[in-house]
Amino acid sequence: MFRSHTCGKLRVENINTEVTLAGWVQTVRKFGSITFVDLRDRYGITQLLFNENLNAELDANPLGREFVIQVKGKVSERSNKNLNIPTGEIEIAVESFSILNKSITPPFTIQDDTDGGDELRMKYRFLDLRRNAVKKNLELRYAVGRSARNYLHENEFMDIETPFLIKSTPEGARDFVVPSRMNAGQFYALPQSPQTFKQLLMVSGYDRYYQIVKCFRDEDLRADRQPEFTQIDCEMTFVEQEDIIQMFEKMIRRIFKDVKNIDYNEAIEKITWEEAMWTYGNDKPDIRFGMKLNNLKFPAHTFPTKVDISATIKSDFAVFNEAETVIAFCVQNCNDYSRKQTDELVEWVKRPQIGMKGLAFIKCNVDGTFKSSIDKFYTEEQLKNIATTCHAVAGDLILILAGAEEKTRKATSDLRMHMGTTLGLRNANDFKLLWVVDFPLFEYAEEDNRWVARHHPFTSPKPSDINTMINNNPKIENAAEYLKHPYANIKANAYDMVLNGNEIGGGSIRIYQKELQQKMFAALGMDDAEQQHKFGFLLGAFEYGAPPHGGIAFGFDRLCSILGGSESIRDFIAFPKNNSGRDVMIDAPSTIDNKQFEELQIKLDFKD
Ligand code: AMO
Repeated sequence: MFRSHTCGKLRVENINTEVTLAGWVQTVRKFGSITFVDLRDRYGITQLLFNENLNAELDANPLGREFVIQVKGKVSERSNKNLNIPTGEIEIAVESFSILNKSITPPFTIQDDTDGGDELRMKYRFLDLRRNAVKKNLELRYAVGRSARNYLHENEFMDIETPFLIKSTPEGARDFVVPSRMNAGQFYALPQSPQTFKQLLMVSGYDRYYQIVKCFRDEDLRADRQPEFTQIDCEMTFVEQEDIIQMFEKMIRRIFKDVKNIDYNEAIEKITWEEAMWTYGNDKPDIRFGMKLNNLKFPAHTFPTKVDISATIKSDFAVFNEAETVIAFCVQNCNDYSRKQTDELVEWVKRPQIGMKGLAFIKCNVDGTFKSSIDKFYTEEQLKNIATTCHAVAGDLILILAGAEEKTRKATSDLRMHMGTTLGLRNANDFKLLWVVDFPLFEYAEEDNRWVARHHPFTSPKPSDINTMINNNPKIENAAEYLKHPYANIKANAYDMVLNGNEIGGGSIRIYQKELQQKMFAALGMDDAEQQHKFGFLLGAFEYGAPPHGGIAFGFDRLCSILGGSESIRDFIAFPKNNSGRDVMIDAPSTIDNKQFEELQIKLDFKD
């Protein structure tokens, strides 16, 4: 028997028991003829006492960090208790030990506060995984997966695997491709998601499908993106949007309960994409705090429901007069911001990532007057008007950005998040869920002057917009006025779930009639031949009794990282890639042998 107990198991009740433990040496502390060793395994740490006075063979000198050892001894009460760890009241009086394997000195300390930098820890990921902090993240990931599986199983979802070697399924990113030896000159694509397969499963009658599945996307990486990531991928037959929303709200609530012991009972707000863009400047708003955006001046394609106050703030201020959009928001209780603080904000928006030329602000003094960076141009009455529009009261600070619509909206959204972070309103332990619904079906692709699918080409339009889609030519005659094309206003049966400002899931009700699917492909610029080449299998399947269906996929890594209070999904993936998409531990990607190229009948000819 290698071990009778794990290193996390023993307590005062076990005192005087003879035990055998095995694990890794975390620390060795020598005090003359007595040595304390912390022995670590997945379950915890147990203190070992080597006393050479009792037995000269209990010389712990040969032991070094990360040695794997086995010890036999008796559980005894510690004189110096450590109540911070569960085993802290006992220690093992070692009677004999053996070294099972040595370790060379690890490149960083394997402790919560390690001295190893990111790249070093990635290179020695197998050592980093020994650290408690990383282990906790993987445990959380396992708990999230288990909770989702339990819930889905209880609700009749069937876990069905779909292939990894497939044909390209466009989801907006580039494919990773795999050459085929048996079909020289031809390539598989790794799935960006199992989208078309799960739809085919619905056609086959497996009316509730799920899979916790790897997806592969060759896209630029960020903290919340990896080239291979995992989805909790789901699909259901005979459902409408609200059925999906209900089913998966319950799943998320269940995960909160199982994993964090949080009763997330509050109603989950639903806002339309349009409202999200107007109110927060982006389609995955963090609603843990307010600071809603207010337009002082709207771009030309404004919506009729919005009140434009630009007439009331007319002045000689060229920056606002010439801007397409002027957006302001109120930061409560911050009118005491110093000159230094407002200067810092101006510098913040001028950084290249944000790219604004400047920032205007209005301080709402407690006596009802205003102090602003635009005093020269605006009367007290006009400033008051702006304050009223921004729902600002005495004591508040108003921040204003002006410029081209898209850039300004994004910058204001970023500034709002920055203020939220600065003011401590984005606490990792507060969770706020949100549904964003009614996304546009199409997005305009400027480079090609054509429409692309906002979600993916299998997403259905809102029933009320189907005729607009069928009866209008997708061609965009005048690129500058693409917003006036009827397609620009078609809404999709698509929904995203947002948690603390992160898109954690997205899905849609699908097209299931062949003709509408063909119309959709045509709208995206595919002629009949291309449709057949790329999606003949799906169009064919739709001829054999395809039922109405819809689904959703959650970003498993993202969900775990947010529940674990981290910005980076890498921390929750056992073997992640770095920012250049490399696995620095195994050194991949790498070159392959000439023989492999020959077998694949591939010749490399790199262009500079
Ligand atoms: P979508 O592309 O929105 O939908 O992806 C679903 C969720 O997956 C997560 N995600 C990612 N996580 C880490 N790294 C990435 N590179 C990455 N890309 C996406 C996000 C996202 O919300 N087939 C559709 C789903 C459907 O319609 O049912 C799909 O894949 O959290």
